[in-house]
Amino acid sequence: MTAAIRLGVNIDHVATVRNARGGAYPDPVEAARLAVQAGADGITAHLREDRRHIRDADLRRLRHDLSAPLNMEMAATDEMLAIALDLLPHACCIVPERREELTTEGGLDVAGHEAALAVPVRKLAAAGVRVSLFVDPAPAQIEAAARMGAQVVELHTGAYAEGRAGELERLQAAARQALALGLEVHAGHGLTYENVGPVAAIAGLRELNIGHFLIGQAIFDGLAAVVVEMKRRIALGAAAGLGA
Ligand code: PXP
Repeated sequence: MTAAIRLGVNIDHVATVRNARGGAYPDPVEAARLAVQAGADGITAHLREDRRHIRDADLRRLRHDLSAPLNMEMAATDEMLAIALDLLPHACCIVPERREELTTEGGLDVAGHEAALAVPVRKLAAAGVRVSLFVDPAPAQIEAAARMGAQVVELHTGAYAEGRAGELERLQAAARQALALGLEVHAGHGLTYENVGPVAAIAGLRELNIGHFLIGQAIFDGLAAVVVEMKRRIALGAAAGLGA
């Protein structure tokens, strides 16, 4: 029997909505709790340098108030390494980060930055954190990830999600190569109900990390119910005010 594929739910964009109003609602930790109750196998959150969505306090609460494994996405900077070593999440996924990008646009150039990545990979692994490198499905990157001593590669599925020709085959080949090198294989980025099936069929894949679509789809699955409830409360309020 093949091992079940874990689903890591990325709750960054619950924080995006919260931050749009500057208050505490909606709380990404509450959303994480709901996701775990519904069967999510872990929670993923990306602490970006500019704190545009998840903030330090969110991450601390995700780590300490929730029993589900926390996968912290982070750039390989001294600041993020210090936070990760203090927090000791279950896993850290090292991603490239550019301030001006809307999301993580491409995989990490592990092959071109082995010296810079060596310290965070070594220190996190020594602290007992599972280290994952977010890479494009390219042979040189997988080879470099294995050389670095990472335990996991997360394959960037963005180009596949955009429908680029040959990307599913590149993901399949990258997964085969990573498995042969002893790496655990995860994947994520841009996955939806429509495109997740062929990725889930990749032999040996152990985990998918999905965020933007899940939070967006929750609007379509949930909006009707909350409109009904709001109408009910408005009617109750109006009835209570009759004759006042
Ligand atoms: N995996 C990694 C490493 C990511 O950086 C992201 C985006 O934050 C995801 C998965 C999830 O991508 P999406 O939000 O498009 O589902």
